[in-house]
Amino acid sequence: MEVPAADSADQNAREPESPEQREFISTLRRRYHDEGSVFWVDDGELGIFDPDLARRVHTHNVVGSPLGDRLIDLLRRRPSPVVTWDQVRGAWLGRIRALSGAQTTAGLEERMRAVFHARLGREVDLVWLAHETITRATVPVIIDGLSPRAAAVVHADLIGKIRHLLATAESGHLDNSRLSTSPMTQIRAGLAVRMELRGRSRGSRPGRLDLTEPIVRDLLPDLGMDRAVDAVTAMLTAVAGPPGSAAASVMFELQRQTHWAELLRKEHLDVPDEEFHASPTRSAPVTHRFVKEVLRLWNPPSLLARVVRRETKVAGHTLHPGQLYLLSSLMVHHDPAYWTDPETFDPDRWLPEASNANCPNGPNGPNGPNGPNGTGEPTARAPYIPFGWAPTSCVGATLGTTQLILLCRLLTTRYALTPRPGGHARMMLAAVPTPTRFYGQVTLRG
Ligand code: HEM
Repeated sequence: MEVPAADSADQNAREPESPEQREFISTLRRRYHDEGSVFWVDDGELGIFDPDLARRVHTHNVVGSPLGDRLIDLLRRRPSPVVTWDQVRGAWLGRIRALSGAQTTAGLEERMRAVFHARLGREVDLVWLAHETITRATVPVIIDGLSPRAAAVVHADLIGKIRHLLATAESGHLDNSRLSTSPMTQIRAGLAVRMELRGRSRGSRPGRLDLTEPIVRDLLPDLGMDRAVDAVTAMLTAVAGPPGSAAASVMFELQRQTHWAELLRKEHLDVPDEEFHASPTRSAPVTHRFVKEVLRLWNPPSLLARVVRRETKVAGHTLHPGQLYLLSSLMVHHDPAYWTDPETFDPDRWLPEASNANCPNGPNGPNGPNGPNGTGEPTARAPYIPFGWAPTSCVGATLGTTQLILLCRLLTTRYALTPRPGGHARMMLAAVPTPTRFYGQVTLRG
């Protein structure tokens, strides 16, 4: 195993971040401020930071794209059955609904608690703790029933990808093709996934209530084994980074916002487990607002880089196939044109009665129809895009939100996080927002 997973939350497990990472995002934010929302970030890399243009370009670029041909068909020089990414997403989204119940939440909680328990009383890197807690809890939702050996291989691959994401990414943006571990670790993880898929398709392994099942049951004949393994691996890769980063930001704000942490604690002490598991967002509305605000302020990934497939014109620029365009909801979420006091952490901006009041252009904002500078024209809500733009927005948004609410519940009721004295953790905007010098101990609350 490349990285001993059980120990990777230990102190100093991460490489020091490079100064270029921080510089890159702050330079972009400066240019966004000075040059507007669409500009060439680099040769062949167009930043599209206007939320509507971003949606339009992204949709034009990816909608209806078929997956590549199967290896066997490429070798035999024949076309594969056409399967689009939308079909794969559709299969997952159907399954996610079935996975939104109490049983899944209780299972997530059990696995998250196991990670905390294994580290009680030791000083650990809290960023790593966040990533490990999320990945270990999530993998069985994606692919259940792996043997301990196969699960360890899959975890080693994910941990390697996260390590790479946190330690390098000197260009500052998340490009999935660069999320790599050693080729051998990747091959072993791919083989572990393939064995599970093959076993299920032949009936030697039982079907499971996970996100792999609809791929095997509904799409395998058309996808073929290689593309099915790729789909499951893509899903695993999608949880190696953004969800753990969001969890680290939740931990960071729980430490900083002591007043809110206390409110969350009170909220959770009043809600019994069964009620919480049945509906985390409904039973913990204050925590839900807290989590939404964390995802606004520290939205991972900082940038998404996408390859242009279809020629597009945008704001006077022409994008050619092979070039890149960059999207960033983080940039949009910090834009004072859309958000009042965007740098202020304020979960109350999510209260239903405050809706849009925090957006200068919203109905109740200063520039909106009812405001002092308003034109009377109806305007949109502040753009909130924590899970990316359609048609490739996050498939696991509900599950991810549940996990973050669950994390708040665990860290305000059962466990306490004690940061290293004098640690002075600060948030760094790298490929994903990441607290630096964020070390501490997990202990059981009395
Ligand atoms: C708070 C936690 C999470 C955050 C902040 C997050 C964020 C994102 C973002 C921004 C994207 C869009 C990427 C793009 O447009 O290329 C994305 C895509 C994706 N996410 Fe998440 N995610 C979270 C949790 C999860 C979970 C728990 C799962 C699975 C169980 C998941 C599975 C996926 C998948 C499969 C995609 C790719 C969608 C596609 O390409 O069509 N995510 N995520």
